[in-house]
Order: sequence, then structure tokens, then C-alpha cells
Amino acid sequence: MAKIKTIFKCAECGATVPRWQGKCDECGAWNSFIEEMQSAAAFFARTVGVSSALAAEAIALNEVGNEEDKRRLLKLGELSRVLGGGLVEGSVTLIGGEPGIGKSTLLLQLCAEMATAQYPVYYISGEESPRQINLRALRLSLDNKNIYVISQTNVNACLALLQEKKPSLVVVDSVQTIFAPEIDSAPGSVSQVRECAIRMLNYAKESDVPVFLSGHVNKEGLVAGPRVLEHVVDTVLYLEGEKFNSFRILRAAKNRFGSVSEVGIFVMGECGLQEVTNPSSIFIGDHEEENEGSCVVPLLEGTRPLLVELQALVSPTIFGLPRRVTTGFDTSRLVMLASVIARRAFLKLGDKDIMASSAGGIKVGEPAADLAMAIAIASSAKALPVQPKLVAIGEVGLSGEIRPVADLERRLKEAHRLGFKMAIVPERSFKDIKTSFNGMHILPAPTVKQAIILGIKQDNNK
Ligand code: TYD
Ligand code: MG
Repeated sequence: MAKIKTIFKCAECGATVPRWQGKCDECGAWNSFIEEMQSAAAFFARTVGVSSALAAEAIALNEVGNEEDKRRLLKLGELSRVLGGGLVEGSVTLIGGEPGIGKSTLLLQLCAEMATAQYPVYYISGEESPRQINLRALRLSLDNKNIYVISQTNVNACLALLQEKKPSLVVVDSVQTIFAPEIDSAPGSVSQVRECAIRMLNYAKESDVPVFLSGHVNKEGLVAGPRVLEHVVDTVLYLEGEKFNSFRILRAAKNRFGSVSEVGIFVMGECGLQEVTNPSSIFIGDHEEENEGSCVVPLLEGTRPLLVELQALVSPTIFGLPRRVTTGFDTSRLVMLASVIARRAFLKLGDKDIMASSAGGIKVGEPAADLAMAIAIASSAKALPVQPKLVAIGEVGLSGEIRPVADLERRLKEAHRLGFKMAIVPERSFKDIKTSFNGMHILPAPTVKQAIILGIKQDNNK
């Protein structure tokens, strides 16, 4: 059987070369070469067959059945939540994440839950030996019955085996290690990863078996994997977290069967990934004492409020160029906030380094976190403590105005429940607050300057 050749095409100008190269000689673009099949027509003729490809059929939409997707609620409730309320039959889910973050651990926990005597689980492992997987299962005290490991990485051989069985779940760990022998490039390349995923997708749709693929990404998202598969699979989940921190957040980037705004929160412990079912207070410290450079924001992750402590450290620049370093918080957002505070609240930050972080390194994407970060920066820059038991919510605009945020009451309720005594909110949302929060002062602020005055304890001696 002749192999299918691949070529590399520049995504900028379309130039083709036989081997990957860093720079395109035609247009000068860097890192723009993407691997492609040399002849798509020849490839489809071989895999699909010319005659079946020609005989297309059309189905009237109103004649298509409208029964709901069959879902199975999982005991791993956080995973169920991120999947949109359970695991859908015949769906293909990709779990991406940096190496060592816990993808295999999560998948093994799922396998142990899904395996039944009648419908076992098949685990295609290109990375670990069956012995390693068994040792992990024993260490996690998982039930290892009816989990079958396939150490074969040829996707055709795996599918031939699976077609004879009736599994309850198939796991491919990882998609970068399996290969289709017809394609003339190494496992992990764009063509291989895409082709193997498509074959697993076809299998899932024909057999109604749910399939999970794991895929590694590096910091730049460069490795052929999750990014190139996003449009192929039904659901894309990312497992995030700092390696040296035990929190892991499972986030949906795409979901054909549910919302992408839900997150699942886990703690990586000695017994694998433990679910955190009530996470609202895990990302805040003990706020009895006055503290400088730190402010709490009630974020919304999907339907759940999550209180997150943001910290800032402002210090004099040593090497001329001021630095802006972040963990969890968006760097360009920090640069913008620093400029707004400097211009609109008259704080000199041009000769200062600013470090900004979120507790536990949790990724803070909501603009509603701006105000809390602005207060943290101002507190550190002025060396004055933030008001005790304070939360601040609001998006900061370029002219220093505070913009309204969605679902303010839900956020305030959670802060109130957790004993916060003071909340600074956008002035424009203040009149919409219907609930009374006994014991919590709610202060409207029109501008970031005003919010800083309200949020920071003034030192009468200065
Ligand atoms: P793993 O699931 O192998 O990561 P991935 O498949 O994403 O590469 O996770 C490996 C890490 O998790 C490893 O650094 C050890 C840690 N770990 C725990 O802390 N506790 C546990 O119970 C297990 C199984 C792993
Ligand atoms: Mg792994």
C-alpha cells in the first residue's frame, strides 16, 4: 500500500516545501508552515472510496428525530458539570493540558467509574505501560476491574479490536502517540493527529461509544494537538493549573452539548484529583488582619460565584525599564490598568515594577476583576492597607470610569455569605441592587480614583 505523502504549506503565502522549516523563503514569515496531505483527492479516494463519496444524500431537517442526546450523569460531578450535565453517548472529548498536569489521572478515575462487567473500558495507552497504569490505579485505590489497556499505537489495529467489543468508554492517552500507517509523517504531526482523531470520531458516531482523547500542549500551544483538533471533536476541555500548586481547573473551550462557561475545580492530592464542590472561598486567604496590596473580587465561573484574592506588589524599577509581571492575571490588562491608574488617579507608576497575581494562579479572564486589581496596585504603591473584609467589582475603562458588570447581586450574595463587610460596586449598577445585605456596606464608585479612596485605609499621619 503506497503511503500518503505530506507537504508543508506556508499559512501566510501558500508556498510549499517538502520539509518543515522555520522561515518561509517566499514571504519571510516565521513559524508559518503547516503540514498537509499532498493530495486530498487521492487520500479520500483511498479512505472513503470514490463511489460512496459521489453518492451524496440529503435529509429533510423536519424528518430528523428530535430525541435528546443520551447522557449519563457521572459520579465525578465536576467533570459532568463541565461536559454540560453528563457524558453524551457517541461524543468525542479532547482533554488538553500541559504534561504532568493530571490528564491521565483524571481519565483513569473516569475509567474506573465507567467500567462495568458487561461494558468494559478500553484504554489505548501510547505513553505508559499497563503495569504503570495498574500501579496508578492501585495507588488511587480505584477499582481496576474491566479496564483493558491497549498498548498498540496503530490506530487501525486499535479500531479493529474495538469494533469487535462493546465498550462503555474508550480513552486514547495521548492522541499525539497514535498513528495511521497510511500517512507518511511521524506520530504527533498535524496530519497524523487530525487523521487519528477523525477515525476515532467516526468510530464514536457509528458505535455510540463515548471517546476521550488526551493531548499535550506547551505554553505556546505549539505542539500539534488540542489546537488543531478543536474543530474535529465535539468537546474540548482544558485542564489548567500551576504545577507546583494543587488546584486544577477544568474548563470547556468548546462544547457541542452544553455551555462553555462552566468550570470544574479539583485539588490534586495523594488520592488523585479530588473534587471541590463548594469552591467559592478556596481562592481567598484569611482576611481578619489588614493587608497591603491585596483585594478580593467575586468572579462568576459559569453559574457559580468564585471569590478570588488578587495581589499586587509595586516596587522601584532597578534596571530602567519598568516590568509588569503576572501570574493568572492577563498581562496586557495589567499594563492598561497601570496606565489608567497613573493618569486618572495620579499615582506615579512609570518608574515602578508591578507584579500581579491571583491566589492559586487561577486564570482571571473577567474584566470585572479590574477594580480589585486597581485597588491592590494602589494599596501597594501607597504602602497603605486595603479596608478589611472588602470586595471590589467593576470593569475599569480607559477614562477611569467604572463600568457595570453582569449578575452583580449573585456576586454580592456570595461575598455576604462569606462574611465580607464592604463592597465597592460600579455606580451605574448600584440602583439595580434589590436585595438588602445586612451587615455589608455597599458603596457605589463612579471612577477608579473614587474607588481607591474608598477601598484604601487612609493614613492620617501621612
Ligand atoms: P498525570 O495524570 O500523569 O499527568 P498528564 O497525563 O497530564 O501528563 O499526572 C502526573 C502528576 O500528577 C505527577 O506530577 C504526579 C501527580 N499526582 C499526584 O500528585 N497525585 C496522584 O495521586 C497522582 C496519580 C498523580
Ligand atoms: Mg499522561
